[in-house]
Amino acid sequence: MSAEQAKIAAGIYAASLIEDGQKVGLGSGTSAWHFIRALAKRIGEGLNVVCSPASSTSRKLALELGVPLVELDELDELDVCVDGADEIAPDGSMIKGGGANLLWEKIIATNSAKMLTVVDPSKVVTTLGAFPLPIEVTPAYYGTTIKNIASLLERMGWSNVRVERRMTESSPVITDNDNYIVDAHLGTLTQPLELAIALNQIPGVVENGIFPAMSSGVIVGREDGTASLVEPGFNADEVRVGSQ
Ligand code: 5RP
Repeated sequence: MSAEQAKIAAGIYAASLIEDGQKVGLGSGTSAWHFIRALAKRIGEGLNVVCSPASSTSRKLALELGVPLVELDELDELDVCVDGADEIAPDGSMIKGGGANLLWEKIIATNSAKMLTVVDPSKVVTTLGAFPLPIEVTPAYYGTTIKNIASLLERMGWSNVRVERRMTESSPVITDNDNYIVDAHLGTLTQPLELAIALNQIPGVVENGIFPAMSSGVIVGREDGTASLVEPGFNADEVRVGSQ
C-alpha cells in the first residue's frame, strides 16, 4: 500500500508538469497508469494534449478516460514520455519490462525529446541488476535464443546466470507483439550500454529491457503523498531516504 501511495504521488506530480499543446508518451505499469489517470483529470479541466501509448493496456486505459490518442507514426516526435521503471541508476539508466511492455516503451522513449521516470523510492539503485533483466524474444526457437543469451553473458563475464522464459502459472507470458519474455538473473549490471547492444545482435532477440542513460528526470513519489524531481547524477542513497 505504501509503495502504491508513492506511485500515485509520482504520477500526480508528473501530470502537473505537462504543458498545454504537448505530445505525450504514456508509459505502462502501475506508476504510469497513475500518471495517465492524473493527466486525464487535467485534460478534463481543459489541458490540451495528444498522447501515444506504450502498451495495449495503457491504450485501453487512456481511451476509457477520454485521453486523446494519436498514433506515434503520425507524429514527428513526442515532447515528453512518462513511464515507470523496475530499477533506475544515477546516470538515468534503467531496467524496464517487468510488465512485459519493454518494446513499445523503448520505441516511445526513443522518440521522445525527454523521458520522465515515475517511481517509488525502492526503484532507485546504485547499480542495476538485482531485478532480473527482461528480454523480448520470438517464440520461434526461443530455447536456442535462451542458450545464446546465456553464452553471451558467460563471454561477458557473468557465470551461471539463470535465463528463463517468464510464465504465468503454466502459460508463457505473451507480449503485445505475440512474443515471449525471458528474464536474465544478472545480479549486477555495471555496463548497461555494452550489454544492451550485444543482446540485440542475437537473432531471436527482439529487444531488451536495458534503457541506457535514457531518463531525463526521475520523479520520486513518497508514501506521505509528496514527490520530487531529481536529475541524472543523483545520489541513490540520498534519493531513497528523501534527502535529495
Ligand atoms: C512495464 C514496465 C514498468 O514501467 C515497470 O515494470 C514498473 O512498473 P510499476 O510502475 O508497476 O512498478 O517497464 O514493462
